[in-house]
Amino acid sequence: MENCYRDNCFKDKNIFITGSTGNIGSAIAKRFANLGAFVSVCGRNREQIQSIVQYIEDSGGNCIGIELDVSNNNSINNAIAKFLKATDNRIDGLINCAGGGPRENRATLENQTIDMILKIINTNLIGTILCTKECIPYISDGGFIINFSSVIGHMGMAEYSEYAAAKAGIIGFTKAIAKELGSRSIRVNSVSYGMVSRYGKEGKSLIEHQKTNYLNAFMMGEDVTGIIMFLASEEASYITGADILVDGGRVLALRGTD
Ligand SMILES: NC(=O)c1ccc[n+]([C@@H]2O[C@H](COP(=O)([O-])OP(=O)(O)OC[C@H]3O[C@@H](n4cnc5c(N)ncnc54)[C@H](OP(=O)(O)O)[C@@H]3O)[C@@H](O)[C@H]2O)c1
Repeated sequence: MENCYRDNCFKDKNIFITGSTGNIGSAIAKRFANLGAFVSVCGRNREQIQSIVQYIEDSGGNCIGIELDVSNNNSINNAIAKFLKATDNRIDGLINCAGGGPRENRATLENQTIDMILKIINTNLIGTILCTKECIPYISDGGFIINFSSVIGHMGMAEYSEYAAAKAGIIGFTKAIAKELGSRSIRVNSVSYGMVSRYGKEGKSLIEHQKTNYLNAFMMGEDVTGIIMFLASEEASYITGADILVDGGRVLALRGTD
C-alpha cells in the first residue's frame, strides 16, 4: 500500500509499543521507525526481538529491543525503565498491542480452564491497564495512547468468552483514561481489528479471510497500520475516547439476514 505520511514525520518521537514482535505490532514498529520515530521492540521471545531489531536497524531506523511479559508487573516496570533510560524519560506515545486469543485452546466457558481464562484476561486487559499506569507519568503533554480491542470485544464469539470480556473491557478502560488525561491533551483511543492474517495467503486462508468481511478483502499486519499512524498523528488531534473498527465491515453481520 502507498505510504501517505511524509518522511520523518515522527522524528524525535519516542513510542513504546508492546507486542511489537508479533504480526501487527512488528509492522507498526517498522513503519514508525521508517518515519523517524524511536520505538521499542517488545515481547517474550528473545530471538524474535533480535530479528525485528536487526530489520529496523538494517533499514536505517532507531529502536531498542526489550524483553517484556505484560502479565508480570515487575517485567513491565523493568521494561519501561529501560525504555525511559534510552529516551531521557520521555514517552510520546504508548501502543498497547500485546495480546491475543486462546486460539488452539478455545473452549466454551464451562469447559475452559481457569488458568487459560486468567492468562487471556491478564495479558490483554490487565497488561494494557498496568502498562498504561506505569507510562502515564512519562507521557508528554499532547502525546497519545492506542489500545488494542477487537471485533470480538464488540460482538462476542462462542469459545472466546474470556477474550471477548478482555477486549470489551479495553474499550471502557480507553474511554475512562481519555477522560483522565484530556486536560494534558493526551489522546487515548482504541482500535478494533477484524481478521488480520498471520500466515500469508497459503491454503484455504485467503478465501476464509475474505469470507469474514463485506469488502471481500484479505489483510496482513502491514496492511492495517494506517489507522495507527493516523491516530498517532496531529491529523487526529480532536479524537479521543474513540474505538475505531478496522474490519472490512465484519461487525455488520446480522445472522440470517444477509
Ligand atoms: N490478528 C487478528 O486477526 C486480530 C484481530 C483483532 C485484534 N487483534 C489484536 O491485535 C494484537 C496483535 O495481534 P497479532 O495478530 O499481531 O498477534 P501475534 O502475531 O500473536 O502477536 C502478539 C504479540 O503480543 C505479544 N505477547 C503475547 N503475550 C504476551 C505477554 N504475556 N507479554 C508480552 N507480550 C506478549 C507477542 O510476543 P511474545 O509471544 O513473544 O511474547 C507478540 O509480540 C493483539 O492484541 C490481538 O488481540 C488481532
